[in-house]
Amino acid sequence: MEAVKAPRGTRDILGDESWKWAYVTGVCRDVADDYGYKEVHLPIFEHTELFCRGVGDTTDIVEKEMYTFTDKGGRSVTLRPELTASMVRSYIENEMSKGPQPAKLWGIGPMFRYERPQKGRYRQFVQLDIEALGAQDALVDLEVIDFSMELYRRLGLRNLQVVLNSVGCPKCRPVYRRVLQDFLSPRFDELCDTCKSRFDRNPLRILDCKSPICKEITEDAPAVTDCLCDECREHYERLNRGLEKIGASVVHDKRLVRGLDYYTKTAYEIQSGDLGAQNAVCGGGRYDNLAEAIGGPHVPGVGFASGIERVVLTMEAQGCSFGEKPESKVYVVAAEPSARLDAMALLRELRMNRISADMDYMGRSMKGQMKAAGAAAEYACIIGTSEIEKGVVTVKNLKEGAQEELTAEQLINKLK
Ligand code: HAM
Repeated sequence: MEAVKAPRGTRDILGDESWKWAYVTGVCRDVADDYGYKEVHLPIFEHTELFCRGVGDTTDIVEKEMYTFTDKGGRSVTLRPELTASMVRSYIENEMSKGPQPAKLWGIGPMFRYERPQKGRYRQFVQLDIEALGAQDALVDLEVIDFSMELYRRLGLRNLQVVLNSVGCPKCRPVYRRVLQDFLSPRFDELCDTCKSRFDRNPLRILDCKSPICKEITEDAPAVTDCLCDECREHYERLNRGLEKIGASVVHDKRLVRGLDYYTKTAYEIQSGDLGAQNAVCGGGRYDNLAEAIGGPHVPGVGFASGIERVVLTMEAQGCSFGEKPESKVYVVAAEPSARLDAMALLRELRMNRISADMDYMGRSMKGQMKAAGAAAEYACIIGTSEIEKGVVTVKNLKEGAQEELTAEQLINKLK
């Protein structure tokens, strides 16, 4: 019988990688603190309806990618494909409108999408998600974009590009939809099958189709930003003035429409040339009608989410630092089997003094233990009959080879 394997599109993050994740998460937490965002922990599954109504029925996520099942109580639940809809649900449910506005929230955790796995794209992946809820001001959009840029600056990422667009609002988007449909209709028959089916339901998505023929057809399509209503245009201009003020270099891309239906006004991504086809390190934007779509009051909001796998991949490709790899400082070596209990006692004392330490549990010879020490630690602390008699340990610096006898107290003082 073949041993059971992990499902396709999932990954085990093991010890030689997880310390990098801890580093990245720590930097996320620092930036969130500096920008005044509070961490929240939300459920990994929600009522399916939250995503159907929030993310949108015509999106790839809802149509094809959700892990949806009926629970034992007969309710349809879904493993969250993203966090924004849950954040808005939580804002409404916990009456955050009664607190300081905007409510600034962040969270990190696994998301689930039944997508075709490839480099940087998984069926279970981890997102850092930032949301500012309750404010209209374009300066909040600016703060969110600035947050993402600052995060990547602190992580040492280079060659990133902020790509920006506005997707309008329910007032001006229908105007643009018609303009776009009029532009596309003479060549409707040449569109790929997916885009044909999008023509009536969601024509804006045709703009980001990757098929060469659709790309060619939409090359000279009118831009959403040419059809914005006064309010959306002013918002976009204010955001752009802000980005200029903070010295952010931004490219405008009329094709950037994002794959989620809830966006209004601002849509943006930060893309990396080191990621291949899945080049978005993060994506986000404004979603002023999402709260109403899920049955709540009007709550404007803006945020972004970043896939941690893609951040780590880009950092590795660019040789960025992940800080210091945590390693044991000390390996305690029992010179004879009879000294193992004393070795264990010393090990415990070191650990109680916050000195990371380890020892052998496989009954290895002295030589085998020294080899293990060389691979795992900076110092070997050898303890045998003569050391026990003298009340000392032999401390060997494994890099320099120098050796000295110290009492446990001296050892702890030296290493702390
Ligand atoms: P999204 O563009 O679907 O937006 O995902 C955001 C980021 O999550 C992507 O840029 C990418 O880094 C990562 N990501 C998405 N799918 C995968 C996958 N299958 N494997 C690995 N990484 C992935 C959202 O999810 C929105 N909720 C973002 C947002 C927050 N908008 C406003 N607030």
